[in-house]
Amino acid sequence: MDTIKNKIEELKEKLNEWGYAYYVLDSPMVDDAEYDKYYRELQSLEQEYPDLITSDSPTQRVGGIILDKFEKYQHKTPMLSLANAFNEKDLRDFDNQIYKEIKNKIYNFFVEPKIDGLSISLIYNNGTFVKAVTRGDGFFGEDVTTNVKTIKSIPLVISDKNDYVEIRGEVFLSKKEFEKINQKRLEIGEPLFANPRNAAAGTLRQLDSNVAASRNLDAYLYYFLNHEIVSTHSESLDYISKMKFKVNELGKLCQNIDEVIKHIQFISEQRMNLNYEIDGVVIKVNDFNLYEALGYTSKFPKWAIAYKFPAEIKTTRLLDIFASVGRTGRITYNAVLEPVELAGTKVQAATLHNADFIKQRDIRIGSIVKVKKAGDIIPEILEPIKNEDFESLDVWQESNQCPECNSVLERVESEVDQYCINTSCPRKILRSMEHFVSRDAMNIEGLSIKILEKLFNNGYLKNISDIYFLKKHKEKIIELDKMGTKSVENLLDAIEKSKSNSAEKLFFGLGIRHVGKKTAQVLLKNFKSIYELRKIEYEVLENIYDIGPTIAKSIIDWFDNKDNDKLLMQLEKCEVNFNYNGLSETNFNENISNKSFVITGTLSQPRNHFKKILEDYGAKVIESVSKKTDYVLAGIEAGSKLEKAIKLGVKVINEEDLLSMLGE
Ligand code: IVH
Repeated sequence: MDTIKNKIEELKEKLNEWGYAYYVLDSPMVDDAEYDKYYRELQSLEQEYPDLITSDSPTQRVGGIILDKFEKYQHKTPMLSLANAFNEKDLRDFDNQIYKEIKNKIYNFFVEPKIDGLSISLIYNNGTFVKAVTRGDGFFGEDVTTNVKTIKSIPLVISDKNDYVEIRGEVFLSKKEFEKINQKRLEIGEPLFANPRNAAAGTLRQLDSNVAASRNLDAYLYYFLNHEIVSTHSESLDYISKMKFKVNELGKLCQNIDEVIKHIQFISEQRMNLNYEIDGVVIKVNDFNLYEALGYTSKFPKWAIAYKFPAEIKTTRLLDIFASVGRTGRITYNAVLEPVELAGTKVQAATLHNADFIKQRDIRIGSIVKVKKAGDIIPEILEPIKNEDFESLDVWQESNQCPECNSVLERVESEVDQYCINTSCPRKILRSMEHFVSRDAMNIEGLSIKILEKLFNNGYLKNISDIYFLKKHKEKIIELDKMGTKSVENLLDAIEKSKSNSAEKLFFGLGIRHVGKKTAQVLLKNFKSIYELRKIEYEVLENIYDIGPTIAKSIIDWFDNKDNDKLLMQLEKCEVNFNYNGLSETNFNENISNKSFVITGTLSQPRNHFKKILEDYGAKVIESVSKKTDYVLAGIEAGSKLEKAIKLGVKVINEEDLLSMLGE
């Protein structure tokens, strides 16, 4: 038995060494046939002696597992995004900010490519790979361990045997692999991926890990979280590189911002020669000890910035301009373009925003225009090329009629947009219904815009609340062309089911201007029901963390409108739930739930992290301290808010107190 064990160890060691040379160092040591021979030998021994299979065996990377869904995982340290710099001035501002913040201390920067992929967090316990999690919303990601295990450049066992090691980086597909995948898809008639990033995202989010195993994902690692082990970013990269992770070779330590700018230039020049996509350069303060002093905004660390490459620009002919109406009645103008290849995708439509945008640039139908596309953002028209033919084209004239209902359009004071203010404009109603049933709102599957249109045109839907009366017309709806019994029954079930949604979904679905999904969540978490929200005064609303005057006014105006009142009454009559169900009993904490908190000063984690925890326990997190505030959570250098709390006799707690309140 021992000789078998030794043989297996020997095979694994060889294969892992060859795999490392091939996948990480990009310099193969043996040819494929030799590798395969050893691999098969290991495989058959492991089949015979399954007890001898260990987690670092290359045979453990083959996929095989098929999940129902990805489990959610709460990041121990939130995965933040980076602030952007677009030019030299932005970079110098970043440097000046750091200089001001850390006063007399010396600092330098590490400059490395910004890989255009998906961020991932890898967790190792006692040297063994245990979990890979996507970024998600930064606080909660998805557990994609089974897929990440198939990435051959990620070690399954590492030399650092600490209990908990976390390393972050970017999963990507090389340009070559991307071409291969698309070629295959073309052959089997499947839709093509627009770019390597989308292909990598599509692969990482496959529940069937066999798909990931067949697609050769790769990963660069660029952020080591165990700062107790190494104290600078450059050392950490050497450290993880020694542990056999793939670290980008273009990274460089720069002594000052001039050197940073030079190296950005160098990386930009390399861009086209790389076998992977990069969309910018990341600049990080090198010394981990300065991270705390520099701190964080709610979204970004202040010790790093992403320089984004300018977006690609192409020219093409503008074939037509058409207007469309959104659910708020806002008119947007769109361009029909002669197809053009831009940032990896075929573009044949672009936004023109509003009428002023077109007039100011003198964009004319038939002209050659410059089109820009940055990342995943919708293509935009920049300006026309004023060549010889241009003058002979007609100047574009805006219409003051709604393209759908022909009513006269209006302009809201201080806004550039035109609005259709006809409350019975069919397109507006349909668009607001489409929003109401969408996934983040009431999530009624089966009510596509086409079906909504059919029901609307046949008189079964006049406004949102009619959705809940559709069951009365079941037989007649079944008879409408191509609506089978089963699909109508499923639809009616989905409608019934939506009645018990937690109320933030309903509140978002109502389509109140400026009330997005997150705002709806914050409000319902704070006020617990739409009945309560209805009673809230402007001053209270405005003071809620993340709300502010514009949103507060929009909500108050919405509740003041009689039609909206009627709509709420009808929904209530149909027994649609107006209460927040988000808080489960396990999340109830008598010290925290329903209490109000103000967070101030620098804490060990970004404020949003604590805000989320508190809100998960049903606390209100507000901006300013008053007598009614229950607690002030204060970090280092808490300024005027702390003073005010002390003056008003409000309880002040620190992070440790919070943890003990949470029972941790
Ligand atoms: S550092 C807290 N370094 O860019 C900062 N990010 O726009 C951790 N990215 O979410 C990120 N290459 O997914 C860092 N060399 C690099 C990167 C990089 C790509 C991604 C990452 C991040 C996004 C921010």
